[in-house]
Amino acid sequence: MWPIKFISSSIGKKIIMAVSGLLLILFLCTHALGNAAIFVSSHAFQTYANALHSLPVVVLLFGLGLLVILLFHIGFGINLFLQNRAAGGNRYAINTRVVKNSFASKTMPYTGLLILLFIIIHVFGFNNGPADMEVSQLVKEYLSNFFYSLFYIFSFCALALHLSHGFWSMLQTFGINHPRYNNGIAKLTLIVPAFFLVFFGAIALYFMSGLGASY
Ligand code: HEM
Repeated sequence: MWPIKFISSSIGKKIIMAVSGLLLILFLCTHALGNAAIFVSSHAFQTYANALHSLPVVVLLFGLGLLVILLFHIGFGINLFLQNRAAGGNRYAINTRVVKNSFASKTMPYTGLLILLFIIIHVFGFNNGPADMEVSQLVKEYLSNFFYSLFYIFSFCALALHLSHGFWSMLQTFGINHPRYNNGIAKLTLIVPAFFLVFFGAIALYFMSGLGASY
């Protein structure tokens, strides 16, 4: 059957990694957009969170969809990593321009695991706060804790490193690779991870530094 053939082939696995990776990046964009309200005021962020939770079915379906995409990304990522290791290196079946020994490419499974740990702690934390505390106050409560914020910033560094290779690899898989555009592509693979690091890191630093004391 073709789906089995597809997911058993190297190219099939790479396409699943690239598509799921793209969907996860799109999630990060929507998450950053929603979290931008934190910089406006706690009221603005709470209004956004209330609007979101007034659509429980949409939130549930979105969360389940995200979980499935994440599981695909992790499952096929581990599979490709083990397959490449067994083949004796960082060999990809369809890539001819792989930066074989970059720090980011070599650490993909480890940065991936750290991001997974972050997501588990992050989602568990926001779903298990004190019942009488609104989510906007929960953000302040958690991120005002120095070590909690430090763990967040460390995880965002891992996310940026993971994205710097993952985003580039995704573009290669989609065939976005042309001498005329490669300069721009190289810049994008720095700008996209840097954006998420600076944006999410700024939220953590805002509370960690005490600047968000009146939030
Ligand atoms: C300082 C940065 C961040 C803040 C303040 C933040 C805040 C939040 C909050 C408040 C929620 C709960 C939303 C609600 O149910 O009302 C949430 C959910 C979530 N966050 Fe974050 N987040 C940050 C960064 C990240 C990053 C970098 C990732 C991924 C690597 C991430 C992944 C998630 C996921 C997967 C959920 C659950 C989504 C769902 O239930 O549909 N967050 N975040």
